Amino acid sequence: MEEKVFRSPKKRGRVAVLLSGRGSNFRAIHDAMSEGRINAEIVLVFSNKADAPGLQMARERGLDTLHLDPKSFPDKESYDAAIVEELKKLKVDLVCLAGYMKIITPLFCQAYRNQIMNIHPALLPSFPGLHAQRQAVEYGVRYSGATVHFVWEEVDAGPIILQAVVPVYQDDTEETLAERILEQEHKIYPEAVRLYFEGRLEVRGRKVYILD
Ligand code: GAR
Repeated sequence: MEEKVFRSPKKRGRVAVLLSGRGSNFRAIHDAMSEGRINAEIVLVFSNKADAPGLQMARERGLDTLHLDPKSFPDKESYDAAIVEELKKLKVDLVCLAGYMKIITPLFCQAYRNQIMNIHPALLPSFPGLHAQRQAVEYGVRYSGATVHFVWEEVDAGPIILQAVVPVYQDDTEETLAERILEQEHKIYPEAVRLYFEGRLEVRGRKVYILD
């Protein structure tokens, strides 16, 4: 079977950020854009939580925000269909999940194939799912880290774009490790978005190649 190759577009990008909480990764991406390090702009910050601090931060930064309450939709598919409709209206090129604590449906994944990124606080494929930092501390690994990956249907299993490694110390708690990992998240997430709109990410099979 012929292998299908995806190449990210070289253009000024239109980005939507989806978040559920604090929004520090959103802030890191937005700061990088404001400083001209990424050739893109954030056209929407979306949340499933009305009171997400990240949503408030986005408003303070003068960005357009939207909240849709999952409880007012009959099922996950119709919720995601409503989000996709909003994103299409805004001609979004890339969706950045930044602490968005909802699993997105195949409908959403297929509408934005290789146009959705996520950041995960572990070295995937180790410790997928919730509480990745706690999983790493409890398992007793010596190193953990952060992963930026494309989002495919299977949770936390899409092609890996960038990773950063941090040591895990034996007296670490979930919180101390999370803090060390977060510092790296704020570096690699903006970097991945930068590479994307420089047209330098190529997906072949399940591998991402970073082009010169
Ligand atoms: C980050 O540590 C991110 O990696 C994690 O949530 C945090 C959000 O922080 N995401 C996941 O665990 C996804 N499974 P932030 O709101 O400050 O960006």
